[in-house]
Amino acid sequence: MNQHNILVIGAGGQIGTVLVEKLRTIYGSSAVFATDLKENPDKHIQILDVMDREGLEKFIDKNKIREIYHLAAILSARGEQNPKWAWDINMGGLFNVLESAVKYKVEKVFYPSTIAVFGKHIPLENTPNHVPLTPATVYGISKVAGELWAEYYFNKHGLDVRSVRYPGVIGYQSLAGGGTTDYAVDIFHAEAKNEVFECFLAQNTKLPMIYMDDCIQATIDIMRAPTENIKCRTSYNLAGMSFSPVEIASEIQKRNPNFKIVYQPDFRQAIAASWPQSIDDSEARKDWGWKPKYDLADLVDIMMTEVRKLYTTNPNS
Ligand code: SER
Repeated sequence: MNQHNILVIGAGGQIGTVLVEKLRTIYGSSAVFATDLKENPDKHIQILDVMDREGLEKFIDKNKIREIYHLAAILSARGEQNPKWAWDINMGGLFNVLESAVKYKVEKVFYPSTIAVFGKHIPLENTPNHVPLTPATVYGISKVAGELWAEYYFNKHGLDVRSVRYPGVIGYQSLAGGGTTDYAVDIFHAEAKNEVFECFLAQNTKLPMIYMDDCIQATIDIMRAPTENIKCRTSYNLAGMSFSPVEIASEIQKRNPNFKIVYQPDFRQAIAASWPQSIDDSEARKDWGWKPKYDLADLVDIMMTEVRKLYTTNPNS
């Protein structure tokens, strides 16, 4: 059996869907075990509930897992609907992963953090890596705690946990689910369907975002970097681009002058307003060579082309 088997938890989600494909091309299909709450035989996703500690341990042991990507979490907007539930899943899932990883001598764990860890009393432009973290959402609170636990397990148990703070992630291969940045994915689906897009954020709400390929590249790069290069053991800031709803809408309108957007800010506006507008990711650049490739124009070109294809191939989707 391959001695470097990889487990992806949350493989059916927005990022997991794309990450699994990339990992399979790098390490070979038989080395990558994709799992989620729901199975998907077409994508070779098996059932595994990260809250089931015994099941998780058995899976790791049986499949000789050496690396884990723990992507399962309740994001910012959905978490606010049921904070205690979101806390239990985000923290319970992480503890199960960390404890099982130590017990079965897993070599590396990837734990995504987020721009939602930021809150008051910090510069919202070019937000530095190391600032007071005072998030306003249960998602942000759980990820701050998670970052600290990641560092704790590294220091106390030598567990090689690596983490980046994802901005809003935008890709065509999967839908976003339960986040405050989801509008920047949904907008392309409205455009492809010739619908007027109702944006749940106000027009000038600028947020850090990243194109999916850059997000996946950062994830692979930090996991492949030599251990000694990972100097930050909480989480690295990661930047791709920054834009507001009106800016992305006008990029779309350059390519489709008929595209229309209206603004109906809801509870997610307050969450977005508490987050940085842009991120200083110089530590990631310095320590493990991070450099994004895609800007807003690239992103809009690719997203419009690819999302339209989804609706041409399958008009009922
Ligand atoms: N995309 C996430 C959210 O909006 C941020 O990490 O919740």
